[in-house]
Amino acid sequence: MKILVTGGAGFIGSNFIRQVLARGRGYSVVNYDKLTYAGNLANLESIGKNPNYQFVRGDICDTSAVEAAMRGCEAVVHFAAESHVDRSIYEPAPVIETNVTGTFILLQVFRKLNLQRFVHISTDEVYGDLLPGTSADESSQLQPSSPYSASKAASDLLVRSYVRTFDFPGLITRSSNNYGPYQFPEKFLPLLITNALDDKPLPIYGDGKQQRDWLHVDDNCRGILAVLERGRIGEVYNIGGLDVEENLSIARRLLRLVGKPETLLSYVKDRPGHDRRYALKCDKMERELGWTPSISLDDGLQQTIDWYKMNVDWMDGIRGGEYRSYYEKYYENRDSSLHAITPSGAKSSRKF
Ligand code: NAD
Ligand code: TYD
Repeated sequence: MKILVTGGAGFIGSNFIRQVLARGRGYSVVNYDKLTYAGNLANLESIGKNPNYQFVRGDICDTSAVEAAMRGCEAVVHFAAESHVDRSIYEPAPVIETNVTGTFILLQVFRKLNLQRFVHISTDEVYGDLLPGTSADESSQLQPSSPYSASKAASDLLVRSYVRTFDFPGLITRSSNNYGPYQFPEKFLPLLITNALDDKPLPIYGDGKQQRDWLHVDDNCRGILAVLERGRIGEVYNIGGLDVEENLSIARRLLRLVGKPETLLSYVKDRPGHDRRYALKCDKMERELGWTPSISLDDGLQQTIDWYKMNVDWMDGIRGGEYRSYYEKYYENRDSSLHAITPSGAKSSRKF
């Protein structure tokens, strides 16, 4: 099967392509990616000149380029997105353009070319902020809180509408927070790992008691592949790590694993509209596709820390790009300009 993977130079997409090609099973992959700040061909270096892999640089909002790339493929796995909540708060326009309009264009071209399966990669954030102790299943209400999650809910609903109206062969996965190798360090865990390794402060938004369900990227990719191969058309599948933890407790655990002191923890002003809890019920993945997460948070964290330790060049490449100005803009003045308060009420005065 020849698949078009959108956003394959990003974190999850590149791990997915590696996993698919490693499995064999007759897959070939066209990776269609715009190479935004988050797209990085170094993520796919290990694939080298695999004859079953082809890279095409392009924007999912460019209809004719999408059509040229999709022609001859049988399936689409759609990862491409502006994926960061904080950036979506400060600069929502590209998020809406790529996540909503871009998905719409893919759906239109897919219909025109009459392909066989479209797997849309959505997120648990579409369910919004959950009450303490509760988890979302696939029929829970969509109540997104940020421009990012609203754009993902919009694209998710577009796919649903195409299934219903046009008999479109679409499937949707909603996964929880991924972590693992090759994650761009704007996200919580790689930001904390790389800062801890450099003895820099670990920024904790608000009181740090927000809860997230952590899923190793290899488990997610295995789940997505199962949905691509055996999922039922028109269905939504939650893919979670079943490992819900408070940000602060995972930060402490990480410091222990890296062997750095808790004095590196630094409370900074909270994210506006910050959701307190995400958690997923994943019974459907187990019941229908025999999938359960296999990598524990302890093992996955240690493996991820080791990866960042061993891939200093990869991280240096990122620091040499847009990340440096992003980091300066959002963190270096964050505590003083945004009046960070520690839980004890004291003003934080750390240098990021
Ligand atoms: P990422 O930011 O690491 O990668 C996104 C990729 O999309 C990049 O390679 C980028 O260049 C590409 N891209 C962006 N805009 C594009 C455009 N207009 N045209 C073509 N390519 C474009 O993201 P990720 O963390 O790998 O997430 C992948 C998908 O999974 C996203 O749809 C995201 O919403 C979803 N998701 C992510 C998580 C997570 O924890 N990272 C959790 C649930 C769902
Ligand atoms: P993030 O990785 O941005 O994922 P999401 O917001 O999509 O869940 O953030 C995960 C959690 O970590 C979230 O509650 C926000 C928090 N966070 C911090 O406390 N400090 C940080 O520097 C970042 C980036 C996130």
